[in-house]
Amino acid sequence: MRILLTGGAGFIGSHTLVLLLQAGHQVLVVDNHVNSNPVVYDRVRLISNTPFDTLSGDLRDTDAIAARIRAFDPEAVVHFAGLKAVGESVADPVGYFDNNVGGTIALLRVLASTGCRRFVFSSSATVYGEPKFLPYTEDHPRDAMNPYGRTKQHVEDLLEATAAGDPHWSVASLRYFNPVGAHDSGQIGEDPNGVPNNLMPYVAQVAVGRRAALPVFGDDYDTRDGTGERDYIHVVDLAEAHLAALDWTTQQSGYRAFNIGTGQSVTVWELVAAFEAASGRKVNAKVEPRRPGDLPAYWAGTARAEQELNWRASRGIDEICQSQWRWQSQNPDGYGS
Ligand code: NAD
Ligand code: UFG
Repeated sequence: MRILLTGGAGFIGSHTLVLLLQAGHQVLVVDNHVNSNPVVYDRVRLISNTPFDTLSGDLRDTDAIAARIRAFDPEAVVHFAGLKAVGESVADPVGYFDNNVGGTIALLRVLASTGCRRFVFSSSATVYGEPKFLPYTEDHPRDAMNPYGRTKQHVEDLLEATAAGDPHWSVASLRYFNPVGAHDSGQIGEDPNGVPNNLMPYVAQVAVGRRAALPVFGDDYDTRDGTGERDYIHVVDLAEAHLAALDWTTQQSGYRAFNIGTGQSVTVWELVAAFEAASGRKVNAKVEPRRPGDLPAYWAGTARAEQELNWRASRGIDEICQSQWRWQSQNPDGYGS
């Protein structure tokens, strides 16, 4: 298929790009590099040995991107482009709604002038908010607790309404749990700017010697060992879910949300231990107060994705940590190495 990949230079997008190329798809990537380095394209070419097209631009700048997208004539879209830092979204809700919701509206307007009605969207488990029950299933009420999560909820609603208004649309919203790990080649991985907001890149940067100690945000939660529990999913499993979702859009119409996780939770201490084993390095850690807005524990109910997408995660926390360490140790300073 001809596939338009928005945000395809980013962490999850670049891993999905590799798999799409390896599966024989033709790809046009649109990215404005607000949170990615174009050097990732060289790495993807190295891994896949396959050409693809790129367009440097902002989704909201339709004048600059519409003609190229129309000429490419996509048969499906995978829409990763968005801002994702929860704290930043609290400080700048207007910027987040403008980029994430406004960017999607602009994209849908461009698509309206093409024949493309197949859409896979990067949503997030954060749309669920405070757990009423666990694991979260797709029917769990949505009540995101921060502006970032609210943008995901709004885009989901927009896509659902779009599919309801025109039976030609087929839209899969993938609600990712905690994407981590890296491609086995060690050539691509997550490369956060500045101090990492998320656990896994922080742990990896401590192990490689870039940071002194991991702050552990609370060890007095009502969880297995007092630290937060999350459902960490290998980014390559996650990338595979996008290929499964694209298949789904060729067979089904309408709108459907899917949880994309492993169904298992891992605590902060368990992740640190797995990383130490994978890297052979000590990860210094220091317990600090709870981080405001953090939930104690959540993980995915995976039955719908297994039954309807015919997809399930196959990689566990040890393999995740090994791949993360390969990426971090081969690229201690990320793409700037
Ligand atoms: P990322 O920041 O690495 O990738 C996003 C890409 O989109 C970046 O390359 C960025 O430059 C680009 N982009 C942002 N706004 C754009 C715009 N207006 N026009 C063009 N390009 C734009 O993030 P990621 O971790 O790969 O996440 C991809 C998607 O998955 C995001 O929508 C994110 O919200 C969602 N998601 C991520 C996580 C996670 O923990 N990583 C969890 C749930 C959902
Ligand atoms: N944690 C630490 N120290 C750190 C970072 C995190 O102890 O330096 C802990 C957190 O308290 C939490 C766990 O590690 O218990 C995971 O935290 P992350 O920041 O890695 O992930 P979150 O689950 O908090 O958030 C992630 C994404 C959000 C997304 C959310 C829901 O960062 O964008 O998952 O899918 F909204």
